[in-house]
Amino acid sequence: MFTFEGKTALVTGGAGGIGAACAKMFARHGIGAMTITDVRRENLLRTAGEIEKETGLTCISIDADIRKEESDSLLVAEAADRMGRLDILVNCAGISRTGKLYDVTEEQWDFTFNINVKGLFFICREAFKVMEKQRSGCIINLASQAARGGGILVTPDYPSSKAAVLTLTKSLAKLGASNSIRVNTVSPGLIATEMTSSFGYDPAAVPLGRIGTGDDVAGAVLFLASDYASYITGACIDVNGGIAMI
Ligand SMILES: NC(=O)c1ccc[n+]([C@@H]2O[C@H](COP(=O)([O-])OP(=O)(O)OC[C@H]3O[C@@H](n4cnc5c(N)ncnc54)[C@H](O)[C@@H]3O)[C@@H](O)[C@H]2O)c1
Repeated sequence: MFTFEGKTALVTGGAGGIGAACAKMFARHGIGAMTITDVRRENLLRTAGEIEKETGLTCISIDADIRKEESDSLLVAEAADRMGRLDILVNCAGISRTGKLYDVTEEQWDFTFNINVKGLFFICREAFKVMEKQRSGCIINLASQAARGGGILVTPDYPSSKAAVLTLTKSLAKLGASNSIRVNTVSPGLIATEMTSSFGYDPAAVPLGRIGTGDDVAGAVLFLASDYASYITGACIDVNGGIAMI
């Protein structure tokens, strides 16, 4: 359905979960070159190996912690340099914690925002430098249903950080439009990954009757990255099996 021949993509949080699902789906749909990045080096190399084995694509892997502006700058520059250009950026790196109100320390608040908001912003900013020169590009940021509903089980720092991602995406979409850089959000509900493995959520509570998969989210990401979405920017696609309705 989609084709990404000749295109290049950088996927953060690509070692596992939704990021790995996106990277694998891009590879299956013929992406020309891809870089995955994550702080977990072993998992990153394993995912790159799986992609190569399944599709033949040699996936570039760069291990980096996205919390620092300098490392974000180096990361994006290296990815763009090794791939020749940067057409698509998918920001999946993120963390959440379960707990109660008084579990949230200043350290935890900063940790969450440094990854989910600050790191994401600086990666976008660096991608803009490349995409502005190309006068084209596409960025997809992962927010969360929790941004709208306040979250279940997770501590308040997480939904607050994801609400920031929703707004940041719109700000960037406005700034990118004149250079044909589209910036959109995908907001997942409950998806079966390492992040949610301890949640114990009842599939019967989801209107569609099941917990989502990484591929459910990747489908929306690929659509937004494709030419079928060429008139969509500053938007958010909810992928939640209908839980926003309850
Ligand atoms: N799983 C869900 O139900 C769900 C729901 C809503 C939103 N999301 C969002 O989707 C995105 C992907 O989540 P997931 O479920 O695949 O989680 P995950 O934990 O499986 O993957 C997140 C990845 O981010 C990486 N990461 C964490 N801190 C990092 C750092 N400092 N630098 C670089 N990489 C770092 C982790 O190593 C991990 O591989 C996240 O932004 C998450 O908030 C997930």
